[in-house]
Amino acid sequence: MQTLEQDTPSIVPIKTTKKFFLETYGCQMNFSDSEIVASILKNEGYSITGKEEEADVILMNTCAIRENVEQKTRQRLTEFRELKNENPSVVIGVLGCMAERLKVKLLEEEDLVDIVVGPDAYRSIPKLIGEVEGGQKAINVLLSREETYADINPVRLSENGISAFISIMRGCDNMCSFCVVPFTRGRERSRDPDSILKEAKGLFEHGYREVTLLGQNVDSYFWYGGGLKKDFDKATEEQKKSAVTFGHLLSMVAEISPLLRVRFSTSNPQDMTDEVLHAMVKHENICRYIHLPMQSGSSTTLKRMNRGYDREKYIDRIKAIRTIIPGCGISTDIISGFCGETEEEHSDTLSLMDEVVFDYAYMFKYSERPGTAAAKKYVDDVPEEIKKRRLQEIVDLHRKHAHESNLKDIGKEFEVLVEGYSKKSENDLSGRNSQNKVVVFPREHYKRGDYVKVKVHSCTSGTLLGEAIK
Ligand code: SAH
Ligand code: F3S
Repeated sequence: MQTLEQDTPSIVPIKTTKKFFLETYGCQMNFSDSEIVASILKNEGYSITGKEEEADVILMNTCAIRENVEQKTRQRLTEFRELKNENPSVVIGVLGCMAERLKVKLLEEEDLVDIVVGPDAYRSIPKLIGEVEGGQKAINVLLSREETYADINPVRLSENGISAFISIMRGCDNMCSFCVVPFTRGRERSRDPDSILKEAKGLFEHGYREVTLLGQNVDSYFWYGGGLKKDFDKATEEQKKSAVTFGHLLSMVAEISPLLRVRFSTSNPQDMTDEVLHAMVKHENICRYIHLPMQSGSSTTLKRMNRGYDREKYIDRIKAIRTIIPGCGISTDIISGFCGETEEEHSDTLSLMDEVVFDYAYMFKYSERPGTAAAKKYVDDVPEEIKKRRLQEIVDLHRKHAHESNLKDIGKEFEVLVEGYSKKSENDLSGRNSQNKVVVFPREHYKRGDYVKVKVHSCTSGTLLGEAIK
């Protein structure tokens, strides 16, 4: 007797020969997500193109963190719309945080977009494209408690072949009052450490020399094989024994090879433990660099921001970094003009900057995001002019600090991982030191991927200049 299976002809799926164009805005996590999206599409036969005019599918991976980035996205979508006017079969999709924030509104309000896909629904993109080709608009913005794309091997889109991002967790449970991320990226969940190690090893074997472990709050990374962190009480004894914290994970990745540099982002002052700092000390290849967003130097502002730490706690963490890892580079994020911010609170931000002297800072004007706790509870009452002036004061002070920090490096020797030619000349190479500063030096016989000892002889505001030591 024949079985049903034997009677049924085997179906070989026909893969597409279409091309996709993918443009990415926003944070490192978005760039990392785009590599997952590219991998999902390539598996279906799509090939990537860098030219939007020749694409059958145009995708934008978007950011919703501040209003101005959303405006830029809309502007770009109108340009893509013109391409679609010329060739109506082109499919235009919005992915990521702006897709998740606006959901179906993006399809209804404007006739710019065919598909809308949130950060946890990328596996459904090929199916959604199919639906559009069948004549419908398509959307999937379901957030998940489990999706980590752990099994997907990302297609590397960055061209240097030396450094790569690895997402170790998704979402955020912190609920800082100004921030839209918990709404657009959903609940925090950590990725299986085995899959992270496998990805990092694979990259090293393919010649990569630097990985950056990404999460909105890496210190909160926690894996025990049993689901969400908050359910750890219910874990079996075996699961409890094999639990992995961020400190463990860092050490495991660092132990792949001393030639693999390990970076991570973002640390959070309320969760950053000394365990992580000690793991850094133990492994020289974990870079001496921490991005520790302060947001404000005023304890009362930090309270309204629901950041979970005050000025003293922030200073305590900075002191811990400087004591445990002398010479560690420190960068930060700062927001000017948050709801209710007084002149005195703003001065507290400037004075904390003076106290820390950051090597690098990302500085923003507060931008109200619909649906956040700040939008519901507080009035966005700092006038635009004052926000701007305060931001300028923060930027000016930071420039002075960054220059001071660079001057201090003159005469020092650093190990630089070469990433490519310098922006200005092919006679010079550019790379970064462990502290994440860009170092430029004469090329000689060195090449991309080499570790070169460089002695710094001068600096510009953003770059150290030096020469290789023989
Ligand atoms: N998870 C990270 C940062 C996420 S967003 C953290 O722990 O801080 C990156 C930065 O954007 C934030 O650190 C903050 O400085 C800024 N940002 C977030 N929401 C903002 C808003 N509504 N207006 C202005 N800046 C904002
Ligand atoms: Fe946003 Fe705060 Fe999380 S800034 S990403 S809610 S740590």
